[in-house]
Amino acid sequence: MALFSSSTQAIPITGDIPQHIAIIMDGNGRWAKKRFLPRVAGHKRGVEVVREVVRLCANHGVKYLTLFAFSSENWRRPADEVSFLMNLFMEALQQEVGKLDENNICLRMIGDCSRFDPALVAKIAEAEARTAGNDRLTLTVAVNYGGRWDIMQAMKRLLAEKPDLAQSFTEEDLAAYLSMHYAPEPDLFIRTGGEQRVSNFLLWQLAYSELYFTETLWPDFDEAEFKRAIVSYQQRERRFGRTSEQLVAD
Ligand code: IPE
Ligand code: IPE
Ligand code: MG
Repeated sequence: MALFSSSTQAIPITGDIPQHIAIIMDGNGRWAKKRFLPRVAGHKRGVEVVREVVRLCANHGVKYLTLFAFSSENWRRPADEVSFLMNLFMEALQQEVGKLDENNICLRMIGDCSRFDPALVAKIAEAEARTAGNDRLTLTVAVNYGGRWDIMQAMKRLLAEKPDLAQSFTEEDLAAYLSMHYAPEPDLFIRTGGEQRVSNFLLWQLAYSELYFTETLWPDFDEAEFKRAIVSYQQRERRFGRTSEQLVAD
């Protein structure tokens, strides 16, 4: 139970392999620009890398992989890039769901679906239902997601459903309404593309994640890069507020 608790007092059991990896897949546009290609060519190549990283996670025993595909701020991009991304997402969903299902991978989406085309919302629901019973790896794709939106929607739903709690509720009460209530918090957060920021990703859940930043652009993120991130994680001492001496004594 402590594993899924959202309290910063909870100490998750950490093995060598992170149980949950969350990734900001950044750098697609720059990858394309370097090759004198349109930005969208980088997004296309990025989908191939997603496929490979899902395979690596499944093979290494990672149980949860969460990918930031489109942020609530990405609507500010040029309209043609936004619509390309939406189509790419729809296409990838259609093409990959069968393979995910065959490989016992559960697919989930998090984010505010209210701005999506109803056809896309239906496809998402269908893909989630089809893979719901799979338990090798849970792949969560964050689309039109924002960490602040998530906390706000959780708060609103909690108070609507349990008005008695308005005066006093716990972290656990709120966490049950967050989009990722079904998963432990990320052990390892990776951001490619060189920026060292969280860009409104999983604000609540990253409280005690190990952060890993790499200059490598997402379309260049390969098995060697994946392993480098895991090795870096394995060298960290996760103290969760305690001292090193206490960890040795445990
Ligand atoms: C990440 O790559 C993909 C999305 C945000 C959809 P970018 O498109 O942000 O690539 P850069 O940061 O401009 O290189
Ligand atoms: C973050 O990347 C969002 C996704 C990868 C989906 P951005 O490229 O949009 O982030 P900023 O704007 O540089 O912070
Ligand atoms: Mg970017």
